[in-house]
Amino acid sequence: MLILGIETSCDETAAAVVEINNGRTFQIKSNIIASQHEIHNKYGGVVPELACRRHVENISPVIMEALNKAGVTINDIGLFAVTKGPGLIVALLIGLSTAKAIAYALKKPLVGVNHLEGHILSIFLEKSDLSFPFVALLVSGGHTELYLVEDFGKYRILGMSRDDAAGEAFDKAAKMLKLGYPGGPAIEKAAAGGNSRSIPFPRAYIAKDSLDFSFSGVKTALKNYLNGFTPPYSTSTMYLPDVAAGFQEAIVEVLINKAFFAAKRYNVKTIVMAGGVASNKALRTGMQERGSREGIAVFYPGPILCTDNAAMIACAGYHRFAAQGFSPDTNFYEMDAEANMKL
Ligand code: KG4
Ligand code: ZN
Repeated sequence: MLILGIETSCDETAAAVVEINNGRTFQIKSNIIASQHEIHNKYGGVVPELACRRHVENISPVIMEALNKAGVTINDIGLFAVTKGPGLIVALLIGLSTAKAIAYALKKPLVGVNHLEGHILSIFLEKSDLSFPFVALLVSGGHTELYLVEDFGKYRILGMSRDDAAGEAFDKAAKMLKLGYPGGPAIEKAAAGGNSRSIPFPRAYIAKDSLDFSFSGVKTALKNYLNGFTPPYSTSTMYLPDVAAGFQEAIVEVLINKAFFAAKRYNVKTIVMAGGVASNKALRTGMQERGSREGIAVFYPGPILCTDNAAMIACAGYHRFAAQGFSPDTNFYEMDAEANMKL
């Protein structure tokens, strides 16, 4: 069966055609992502009104391109899957109303997908034989969460950010350093060749055995450092690669320690990383090294499947459809977007 995924929860208009074989193995036929980074770059973050307008312009061409690249027509699609939430409401509505209109006109099934479930299941697009249970570290612009994943559709939240998400902290730090948006890749690039130990950025563990995160402190530390008023910080000798590397490491170190702590606590031998921040090389390498030391398998998808995409929505949509006994969401034309949708 062919599934068309549609994703417009933030600043990427995305559509993908994915084929499912034997109920488990996915083949990505096309994965089109129209990014709006250049529009939001000068504002240092996503401007919802601009994102929404660009989604309206992009959605049809992006879907057409996904179909063309896959070499199929819209009539070949057996299931439509669309992000229902969480995300920017004005942005979600563009994808959702488009998907509803197409599915309604073609009398085809449609399922609404939780964006977070899409991220967590994105690994199955590349590793169909992955077995449960595993700990998922979901690190994106809006979320930093740890889940115990027991099966498709069975997610138990173990920890979450109490303030900024990891990606959000990177984005805000990059804004302070005037490195543009999105901040994560900009900080990663600026960190090249830097000494991550030269500036003592704080690590927030909250409590000894807490699986929650807090990244507002490290962000404030950077602000103080740049203002040069808190000893031992002094910007008189500021060297950008050291600042970026130190900031990056303060976040990466906490993410790694908490993910492994969760795996140990729940006696799980596999950790999966997902979300935009999971494309960070320092995090990927650090997770792998720690995994090989501790005998825990670590998996993460390729960078293009870590950041927002519609292939992951098609994948999660299929599993939702299967869990519903291969029936679509009932009365899907009444389905609404949910800005704060929970997993
Ligand atoms: O998953 P995603 O594309 O969108 C959300 O669902 O939020 O994640 C976007 C976030 C942004 O905050 C971006 O700065 C961060 O992921 N990000 C990175 C990297 N690439 C993207 N953070 C650190 N290092 C990267 N290489
Ligand atoms: Zn995302």
